[in-house]
Amino acid sequence: MSTDSPVLTDPTPPNWASIDLPATWPDDLELNTLPDLRFLMSKVFGARKLVEIPLDMPGRDLVPRYMLQEFHNLPNGYYSRSLTRGYVRSFDTIMLGAMKSARDRVAETLKGVDSAIDVGCGGGRVAQSMIERGIGDVWGLDPSPYLLKQASDEVAHVKFVQGAAEKIPFPDQRFGGIGICFLLHEIPPKHASIALKEFHRVLKPGGLVSIAEPSPVQMAESSISLFRKYGWKGPYFKLLARFVYEPFVEAWHKRDLKKWFQEHGFELVDDNVGMPLRHTVARKL
Ligand SMILES: C[S@@+](CC[C@H](N)C(=O)[O-])C[C@H]1O[C@@H](n2cnc3c(N)ncnc32)[C@H](O)[C@@H]1O
Repeated sequence: MSTDSPVLTDPTPPNWASIDLPATWPDDLELNTLPDLRFLMSKVFGARKLVEIPLDMPGRDLVPRYMLQEFHNLPNGYYSRSLTRGYVRSFDTIMLGAMKSARDRVAETLKGVDSAIDVGCGGGRVAQSMIERGIGDVWGLDPSPYLLKQASDEVAHVKFVQGAAEKIPFPDQRFGGIGICFLLHEIPPKHASIALKEFHRVLKPGGLVSIAEPSPVQMAESSISLFRKYGWKGPYFKLLARFVYEPFVEAWHKRDLKKWFQEHGFELVDDNVGMPLRHTVARKL
């Protein structure tokens, strides 16, 4: 994936409501029948398969190859009309309500900027929180048109466009802030560094990147120690982190964030390692 062709203007947000996305295999299942439900469950709990993307899916060439995996055990990943819809809701339920405050914190840090982008926006909830905090010019970016269509159905006043963090389709110094929620631990380390270079390019000098990602604590500590510190939620989040398919999460936790940001022209201004989330803020120098 190359980042060398300069982008001079903003992309035009598609009218997602008018776009009829092609069905993928989970959309053909009848989930009110036992055999299809059983089949789906075998996919959730069975071996991971590669994601199949229809040839006529809009923006097919914008999807990074490593994304063609069933992250979070989601049958066909983020690519289906029916399951992605359920995913956006069930993700928040499975995280026991922690995501709402995490997204609000990401957006709150950016309050006061004139323009912001939610990268890896999924259902667009960080972008929604940015709008609620009075940011006037808010964009959402994601490779999955299925998630973008849903986001545009549910979140008003945000412009949703398709693309990847490694090649952000906006001009240099376009945004005052970037919000990220549960994206960077899903990206291979080399790609995360390419994405950080892109964040630097599209941010104005002094612009902030505000990030919520899973906490390393749940992987590092034993279930007993987690139970002592956090009650039953401690071992619960540990079990969840072990169960869900996230091939790059360990590499993300190993990263020295202070050094990483410094090497890419940022200063780390906050790094709060909580449970189950870590909130990190860096400023472009
Ligand atoms: C765990 S979901 C989080 C979605 C959303 N930020 C939220 O708060 O619910 C991860 C999202 O990152 C997106 N994603 C994965 N790889 C990406 C990449 N390279 N560039 C941009 N988005 C990506 C996925 O499509 C998905 O929407």
